[in-house]
Amino acid sequence: MSTTAFVAPHDSKNPSQSVSGVDLAKTWGLAVSSQDEKGKPKVPKAGTTRIFYNTPQSKITAISSLGDGFEAKKGNARRELVRKSVGSAVKAVKGLDGVKEVLVDAEKDPHAAAVAAHLALYAFSLKTSPPSRFNPNLKEPIPEKIALKPIQGSKEWEEGALYAYAQNLARTLMELPANIMTPTAFCERVQAEFSGVANVEIIVRDTKWAEEKGMNTFLSVTHGSSEPAKFLEIHYKGAPQKDAQPLAFVGKGITFDTGGISLKPRVGMKLMRGDMGGAASVISAALAIAKLKLPVNLVVCTPLTENMPGPSATKPGDIVYAMNGKSVEVDNTDAEGRLVLSDAIYYTSTEYKPHTLIDVATLTGAMDIALGEIYTGVFSSSDELWEQLHVAGEHEFDRFWRMPLSEDYGPQIYSSNADLCNTGGSPAGSCTAALFLKAFAEGAFVTSEQEVNGEEPRMKWAHIDIAGTMEATRPTPYLEKGMTGRSVRALIEYTRRLSSSS
Ligand code: BES
Ligand code: MN
Ligand code: ZN
Repeated sequence: MSTTAFVAPHDSKNPSQSVSGVDLAKTWGLAVSSQDEKGKPKVPKAGTTRIFYNTPQSKITAISSLGDGFEAKKGNARRELVRKSVGSAVKAVKGLDGVKEVLVDAEKDPHAAAVAAHLALYAFSLKTSPPSRFNPNLKEPIPEKIALKPIQGSKEWEEGALYAYAQNLARTLMELPANIMTPTAFCERVQAEFSGVANVEIIVRDTKWAEEKGMNTFLSVTHGSSEPAKFLEIHYKGAPQKDAQPLAFVGKGITFDTGGISLKPRVGMKLMRGDMGGAASVISAALAIAKLKLPVNLVVCTPLTENMPGPSATKPGDIVYAMNGKSVEVDNTDAEGRLVLSDAIYYTSTEYKPHTLIDVATLTGAMDIALGEIYTGVFSSSDELWEQLHVAGEHEFDRFWRMPLSEDYGPQIYSSNADLCNTGGSPAGSCTAALFLKAFAEGAFVTSEQEVNGEEPRMKWAHIDIAGTMEATRPTPYLEKGMTGRSVRALIEYTRRLSSSS
């Protein structure tokens, strides 16, 4: 028997009309509130959900609190209460027997409601019974077990669904184990996801191409693996002027990071199947940007490889010459992210001359130490770009915290036998990694002489380190435990604002 469940966010001061025939205020008061000392009912905190059976509206109705004082809340705070409320309710009904459809009262904020509902529905599994839609051997995709529908359709709901679809795609790419999600499979999946999306060109390059380009820091990471490495490019042309300067995204795509010869300890190593989270985030954001037909030109570049300790692997102490000519000592083969990114950032910057380049990477364990899984760290050459990312992140509650990009950390990485050393010791490990990348962000900085002349850098650059936020180790109101796809929604929102303001 298939059932439609009904999800109603509830503001006790302003009860929704959508649950007909139910005295919501009363039901709510009786069923879930506790009382304060004076005997007045207390409003439960946002996301507190109760399920009612056989209401006139539906066999199953989930009523979920929007929290105390909702009506006075504005902007970002209000949106997050809607996400918490809708997400908790969807989580509460999705496991109930027979639920095939969830009807959502999205009226308070259709975009936020759609985001939360679609993220809350997501659950990754490769169990075979019941059949999983993530099974890589499927010829035809199996649809979601539960269909989500707003009571009233709207453009905002559809857009929110696209944001969430993109974030869920990033989660899937990260969750899929490394024997399945190889660099080759990653490229195939990206091509399949973009098929039929207008104004997109996808180029998959191989290591021979990278050799011709002199991408030796990238290639140095590929040597220990027998799985073919790839360099994936996506070009989306949505700007009214086809040759308008693009925005660029670069994503770290390590499909598995063993550490290489500097082998990682065994405990928890399987998390490193998600070390292509930067690549997954940027391609997923690009997919939503293209589907939303945002008027912007966008270039996405992702170096994809395993980091393995095979017989030809790079050895600690090896020195390689990057594409930009700089010599780099590989002191620790586990600091491979900055090696694949350095050539990718330099190539993207010099080849496509973007006005803005944003790289995303699961770069340093130190990021998790600094900010945990709450805020994603951002290092930027530009106050303006930082501000724009910050605003976008707050809007989507995909939050960023600014970290220092300072030359004063330089002695930690400039003091080996090469121009740069790929490790800088444990103090401020995320900051020295960002500073390492700076050496390859061509065009993001001016010389002191140019600065005196009032010249601006030709490119704004931000480095986003998602190593702390890539995984949720505890569930939130609208995300289950597991890979998060964090930074995807913030990147889409940033691009939407950028393209509507210019
Ligand atoms: N992919 C890891 C960073 C990471 C660690 C992401 C934990 C998520 C969770 C990266 O390649 C790495 O190994 N970094 C080293 C750098 C060090 C050797 C300078 C690290 O953070 O320990
Ligand atoms: Mn590593
Ligand atoms: Zn890594």
